[in-house]
Amino acid sequence: MCGIFAYLNYNVSRERSYILQVLFHGLRRLEYRGYDSAGIAIDSSSSSPALPAADPEAPQSSASAPLCLHPQPHVFRQEGNIESLVKSVYQEVAPDLDLQESFNIHAGIAHTRWATHGEPAPRNSHPQTSGAGDEFLVVHNGVITNYEVLKETLIRHGFTFESETDTEVIPKLAKYVFDRTTEGEGEVTVTFSQVVLEVMRHLEGAYALIFKSRHYPNELVACKRGSPLLLGVKELTEDGKSVSAFDAFPSANENPKELFLSSDANAIVEHTRKVLDIEDGEIVHLKDGGVSILKFDKDNGELGGVLSRPASVQRALSVLDMEVEQINKGNYEHYMQKEIHEQPQSLKTTMRGRLIRGGSCKAKTVLLGGLKDHLKTIRRSRRILFIGCGTSYNAALAARPILEELSGIPVTMEIASDLLDRRGPIYREDTAVFVSQSGETADTLLALEYALENGALCVGITNTVGSAIARRTHCGVHINAGCEIGVASTKAYTSQIVVMAMLALAIGSDTISSQERREAIIDGLIELPNKIREVLKLDQKMKKLAQELMAEQSLLVFGRGYNYATALEGALKVKEVALMHSEGMLAGEMKHGPLALVDENLPIVVIATRDACFSKQQSVIQQLHARRGRLIVMCSEGDATVVCPGDNCRAIEVPLVEDCLQPVVNIVPLQLLAYHLTVLRGFNVDQPRNLAKSVTTQ
Ligand code: F6R
Repeated sequence: MCGIFAYLNYNVSRERSYILQVLFHGLRRLEYRGYDSAGIAIDSSSSSPALPAADPEAPQSSASAPLCLHPQPHVFRQEGNIESLVKSVYQEVAPDLDLQESFNIHAGIAHTRWATHGEPAPRNSHPQTSGAGDEFLVVHNGVITNYEVLKETLIRHGFTFESETDTEVIPKLAKYVFDRTTEGEGEVTVTFSQVVLEVMRHLEGAYALIFKSRHYPNELVACKRGSPLLLGVKELTEDGKSVSAFDAFPSANENPKELFLSSDANAIVEHTRKVLDIEDGEIVHLKDGGVSILKFDKDNGELGGVLSRPASVQRALSVLDMEVEQINKGNYEHYMQKEIHEQPQSLKTTMRGRLIRGGSCKAKTVLLGGLKDHLKTIRRSRRILFIGCGTSYNAALAARPILEELSGIPVTMEIASDLLDRRGPIYREDTAVFVSQSGETADTLLALEYALENGALCVGITNTVGSAIARRTHCGVHINAGCEIGVASTKAYTSQIVVMAMLALAIGSDTISSQERREAIIDGLIELPNKIREVLKLDQKMKKLAQELMAEQSLLVFGRGYNYATALEGALKVKEVALMHSEGMLAGEMKHGPLALVDENLPIVVIATRDACFSKQQSVIQQLHARRGRLIVMCSEGDATVVCPGDNCRAIEVPLVEDCLQPVVNIVPLQLLAYHLTVLRGFNVDQPRNLAKSVTTQ
């Protein structure tokens, strides 16, 4: 929901302007995660000595020992997107800052927010603070579910709160823990990571956190549970150049280096490809050029007033499998546009190495490595449940008929939040398939926990290696669509359908009677990227249609069978980015209510490509025409005159493919329509109002 980022340079001289640039750029890369407010904290001085704590910066709570405090950091918080923060820092504050001042060590933290608790406003932006003097500062992605109880307790201990956020309890708790453990000591006897460990013991919910403190200058501590967090390590030569061969984990030594913490790899890949995927319950402490990792253990807390010192954990760095070009817009105006147009390639990557063409006497088949040990169990399931939200749910809906056909197992559809609201029954004999682009969506993740508790076999289908859903499921398939940055999901949708079609093929691969059908689908999959290339040629036609529709209030989309999902997904794209009311409807339900809306003005898209439902859709078109409906019919190539009953009807012809793959083709013109409508209506394509890429709150 939010994005967090930190940068620490060690033993390499960096000017303040450079540090600001790194932080701002990191935030720009994470902006798709939230864009209603942002903030940073940087060190104020490279040379000032530690100062004895004195009013007004004296600790708010009971601590009274005269501990030394390092200079107060500069904290900037701004409502609006990252550029508003950048502008305010350079225009309003930077004139008083020496941008050329050099730091041999510096620890900066940054945050971009999608508001959940408290409106977008500077006081609710991060870094959140422990109070006057900013002794502890925290940036947070996630939700603290027990914050109200913690807040009451802290208020009783004399803390006052300024924001409506759940996060504010965290730095205040850190200060409370710190004050209590150092009280009367006259010196700091507790490490930064011990303080954070103790804070973690009190937090419930999901979080990735980065802490900065005046008591621990030049150090950062990060921890996580449920929300994603990565560490990036860049070892440098003495003259500040990057060392390419570096495999060891950095221990405390004098080697110059730069360390990065980030919610995702996008903000790290241009600095380094050496990363550590921080695991749930780990505390990462950056200090003296070294990185140590502690494992949180809830039994391992405070003993007789002394904070515990858990042993550090050994972890290896891994290499990011990602190119910087993937996260740039290239020649496109917007990420959504780029992602729509790169679908021929993303689909190829999704299928790479998974379609086995077979030799002269061998059958064509699919190979899904992540599932091979579980296929037998899946085949024995009493039921398969597809669980997801939004676009991911729609993708599963598109794949449902082929899964039912090839597996012979009943498939039920569950919107994750609804399953949780009902506590719908799930059994040990069920296979529950969790579909999520981000692998982080809170509703889907909670539904996964619920299915695990009930003993179902849990399968994950995600685009994010190492995500919470990928880790918590028993097995799964990565869709490998490449990084999706546009908030409206496009290429992930088509890759998800293809993965689920391959899932159906794999489950059904032991049935001889469907061999011919399966081979036809595999042939269709192999040809699919070319078909998408063809359908993308409709771009200008969809732009023209968007020009005609841009002033409309509303749009209906009717589909059925394989393309009911296309109707839902097409309408979702139009409403979320073009901010136009739009409804996807099951065409079979038209006579049962929606027909009342039809007149000569309301534009209606009917999906009527050739499949088993074609004649029924023709009849729907006739009925809409009889009521003078304003029709836009999506049909198979060559069918325009067959489907269009007369005036007030326009056809969009698309290539015909195997019925179960037709939704992959049919969604593309609607993605293009949504894109052009958005641009023409003057809305932000990649950052639609009120939305964020991954929804990590319930
Ligand atoms: C719409 C969209 C959302 C997501 C939904 C689930 O374009 O992106 O509807 O599909 O929030 O997200 P994931 O797939 O990350 O679980």
